[in-house]
Amino acid sequence: MTRRVYLDHNASTPVHPEVVAAMLPYFSEIYGNPSSVHGFGRDARSAVDAARERVAGFLRVRADELVFTSGGTESDNFGLKGLALARGRGHVITSTIEHHAVLRSAQALEAQGFAVTYLPVDQYGMVDPDAVRRALRPDTIAISIMHANSEVGTVQPVRAIGAIAREAGVPFHVDAVQTFGKVDIDVDAMGIDALSFSSHKVYGPKGIAGLYIRRGTKMVSIQHGGEHERRRRAGTENVPGIVGLGAAVEVRARDMKAEAERVSALRDRMWEGIRARVPDVRLNGHPTERLPGTANLSYRNVESESIVLGLDLKGIAVSAGSACTAGSVEPSHVLVAMGVPLDWAMGAVRSSLGRSTTADDVDYVVASVAEVVAKVRKAMPVPAA
Ligand SMILES: Cc1ncc(COP(=O)(O)O)c(C=O)c1O
Repeated sequence: MTRRVYLDHNASTPVHPEVVAAMLPYFSEIYGNPSSVHGFGRDARSAVDAARERVAGFLRVRADELVFTSGGTESDNFGLKGLALARGRGHVITSTIEHHAVLRSAQALEAQGFAVTYLPVDQYGMVDPDAVRRALRPDTIAISIMHANSEVGTVQPVRAIGAIAREAGVPFHVDAVQTFGKVDIDVDAMGIDALSFSSHKVYGPKGIAGLYIRRGTKMVSIQHGGEHERRRRAGTENVPGIVGLGAAVEVRARDMKAEAERVSALRDRMWEGIRARVPDVRLNGHPTERLPGTANLSYRNVESESIVLGLDLKGIAVSAGSACTAGSVEPSHVLVAMGVPLDWAMGAVRSSLGRSTTADDVDYVVASVAEVVAKVRKAMPVPAA
């Protein structure tokens, strides 16, 4: 059987066995609707409340500042549209390298008459806090900047941006889907008023995520119906999912720090190994301010899809650009925004390591990448002199 190595943890992760165990009773034993007043309902309600306390403790926020949602995408829609629509009209600041959940929400707001500034980034994919300051207008009503980019892993200076937002009195939304449970987040020190986070990137189940909303922040709901989540998000709660998210944060609180160190070392070992064996390769993203497990490498004049498919034949899972846009032949909007030249941008391959990755896996990947890239390059037509 072919060996299998999963290096696509930024796309999704396997559910941790402790999380699976915590969730199981909530499918068939404790199945009541948390809104029901009877005992079955009350049991489900207690589980939801306990999980909410756990997540709140992990984020060092109040339990009533959390709203559970169906995913990072919903949280981003809720965070950005919720802040903007609560203010009726005005100007929003975001960046060109946001996830499409934020970018397309911003575009939807533009279609409704809001003005949006999309800030550029530098060659490392970093937003300049001074650019945020310069973009402020008297009618600016929201700032939304991601914590870390999913494709290249660059961690943004959110603390400095949060300080500017605070000073200006503008609410600050942060898409922390890629940092939640991987990097420390302090919403007070970072001046964050709304924070999107998701469960399936950190060994929790899919279909459950959340939005932190600082107490007192004016925000409207985008999903209407019953009185759930203190009338902020209608719909029967995903009880097993919420329990799973609660269990996942417990595991993260315990394992996060050591895992980040281990995974960063493996990521660097992989980059060093590939750099030593493959010509014409570069690292995209910030050299140090980067997610622990993320390495986005470009192979010049090679199509990334050929490498992804070649590695897939060897049982290795990596991604060409972000998982959400894979299949499209356009270079990634993130690499374009960073000014990565086209002959490099088209050959970008993201590896995202995780808790199960071993040094042995990394060595297998290095050898396989060297082989696949050499083969693809050999098969390519020789460029005209
Ligand atoms: C930065 C970022 N924001 C939002 C999302 C969307 O999250 P979800 O897949 O939970 O909808 C992702 C997923 O890749 C992401 O990386």
